[in-house]
Amino acid sequence: MVRLLTRISSLITILAVLVSSQLVTLGQQPSARIKLDTDRTIGEVDKLLFGNFSEHLGRMIYGGIYEEGSPLSDQYGYRKDVMDAVKQLNVSILRWPGGNFASGYNWKDGIGPKDSRPVRIDLAWNDLESNRFGTDEFLRYCELIGAEPYICINAGLGSIDDARHWVEYCNESRHTYWADQRRKNGREEPYKVKYWALGNEIDGPWQLGNKSAEEYSKFALEAAKAMRLVDRDVKLVASGSSNYGADWVAWNRIVLQTLRNQADYIAIHTYINNRDNDFERFMAWSQTIDHYIEITAGLIRQAQSGLPNPRPLYIAYDEWNVWYRTGNREKLEEVYNFEDALAMGMFFNSFFRHANVVKMANLAQMVNVIAPIMTNKQGLFLQPTYFPIAEYSKQHDNMSLDVFVSAPTYRPQNRRPLPYLDVSATYNSKDKTLFLNVLNRSKDQDISTRVENQEGQLDSSVNVWEMNNTDLKATHTFGDDKKVRPVTRTITATVQNNGFTYKFPAHSLTILRIKVK
Ligand code: AHR
Repeated sequence: MVRLLTRISSLITILAVLVSSQLVTLGQQPSARIKLDTDRTIGEVDKLLFGNFSEHLGRMIYGGIYEEGSPLSDQYGYRKDVMDAVKQLNVSILRWPGGNFASGYNWKDGIGPKDSRPVRIDLAWNDLESNRFGTDEFLRYCELIGAEPYICINAGLGSIDDARHWVEYCNESRHTYWADQRRKNGREEPYKVKYWALGNEIDGPWQLGNKSAEEYSKFALEAAKAMRLVDRDVKLVASGSSNYGADWVAWNRIVLQTLRNQADYIAIHTYINNRDNDFERFMAWSQTIDHYIEITAGLIRQAQSGLPNPRPLYIAYDEWNVWYRTGNREKLEEVYNFEDALAMGMFFNSFFRHANVVKMANLAQMVNVIAPIMTNKQGLFLQPTYFPIAEYSKQHDNMSLDVFVSAPTYRPQNRRPLPYLDVSATYNSKDKTLFLNVLNRSKDQDISTRVENQEGQLDSSVNVWEMNNTDLKATHTFGDDKKVRPVTRTITATVQNNGFTYKFPAHSLTILRIKVK
């Protein structure tokens, strides 16, 4: 009898496990809960999270933002159609000139009369560099689009003197040699470039002038000192590791320990992929992004521990994107699809969830090269990735909230279980508006969710911005860039007990905007 009972009980357990797993796998509607509380804040969403990157690579600069002699360009060579699209992306800070290119670049080649500038071999991308677009052209472009310039020094083959002269050329107001060179080149007022990167991916064996953590830290520390002596207002970004196969944690630890009294940020780079064509696994990359941020944030705290007055140190996620289909042969002209657009939301959700420490981020890159804007000689088209980037940027300066999320979970191959809903939320206290950003990473399940609020009464009028498409692989091209675009609508929610139910469609990215009374 006892044996029979034991058997029945194990059968019941097995059945229960099967039923509960089928709840997820058979696509029945699970329910989820999101709880918002404007008192539970993480940090301010820094405006610099909506930055971009413009490297001398393929058609990013030449044929991208700059095309001398084109009927689409202005008198200086800037493409006007591209500039309009860039402005609507709300680019807050623009990184330049690389990337890998920076480690072989001599900025002094790129100033003065254009026709006298030398043509050089670009060893990073095996190309020729005409130098017709240089420091003045870049800084003028930033002024035109209203973005902060962010210059990456050459910490590969370059010297500390080159770096400090560059700061002097850009920022010195007195009559010094380099400031007067700037004047000679037509610019009286200093540009006041505040953000400078102390090199790019110097831990990578692919990098010109690749260094060990100790060699790099020593170089960067001395460069930082010299640059700051020229202009004490500069903000400096140390090169974090991007060679994740190697001991990236050790690199970051040494760099942070050495530069903790000079650097203001440490850089992180991440490119994600869907190489195995598994949508839900692709959408689980947030675990890796969160992990890189959290480990680096811990290393920052470790470097600061014991210091009576530690210098504030943040993360600059200064290269991020989806990138896996193209290489140098294709000049990185990646064609993005709808699922890549969803990945944009995933990156921003992670940045927002860590808004206390991630204070700058730069999409890599802006035009033609792994970019949301693609050009040819006749015009441009916007890739599906363009739209979430533009929409998330509207949340700059909001307060990021620590959201409670309870949602059905899944376990993608080789990864830890994670909730289907990837969520972040921000609050604009000036106009008392909540923004709820939800990526439903289930391939086929809509997720009906109760959205609740703690402080203040939710308005019933909800503005919905949604990106969704039946075809995960849908792309745009020239003359056909309307099909993968967001839709917007206003709905009237049935608010009960300061909450309402909303169904987040399968494989979609939704931003709900709700006033709080
Ligand atoms: O963005 C393309 C390249 O990716 C950059 O030049 C480099 O920093 C990174 O490896």
